[in-house]
Amino acid sequence: KAEKVWLTLSFGMIIGFMLITGYQAFAKDMGPPSYGERIDPQKVDETAPFDNPGITQIGEKEYEVVMTLQVFSFTPNEIEVPAGSTVHFTMTSKDVTHGFQVADTNINAMVMPGYISKITQKFDKPGEYLVLCNEYCGAGHQMMGTTITVK
Ligand code: CUA
Repeated sequence: KAEKVWLTLSFGMIIGFMLITGYQAFAKDMGPPSYGERIDPQKVDETAPFDNPGITQIGEKEYEVVMTLQVFSFTPNEIEVPAGSTVHFTMTSKDVTHGFQVADTNINAMVMPGYISKITQKFDKPGEYLVLCNEYCGAGHQMMGTTITVK
């Protein structure tokens, strides 16, 4: 009888671990930023949408920013949106891993070669938001920054 109890217990534990692992994978997929899609890092310039980086209005107070990161800059380098805008960032790196951190927001994404990083943020408060690379990417890392202007 004791054997049966142990068997049931260990079986229950296995199921439990499987559920936890499954949940973690699920939670990872759900939470921004997502790194789901792949891209050939050698062909960023020829691959849509990165063949045409920039900012596009896609709705009322809704914008899409297609951005490439490379040593030691962000393209596009200047972003300006009206206050209250929701901005969808689609990003990839053309060389090494960079960071995309926006001051005064929760944005703190890794942008890796070979992967597309997507993150959405609403900008309510007008101001100049400082964008910094927060992954060490080489000698010019400290200078790698830009701004997002919310008017
Ligand atoms: Cu790019 Cu540090």
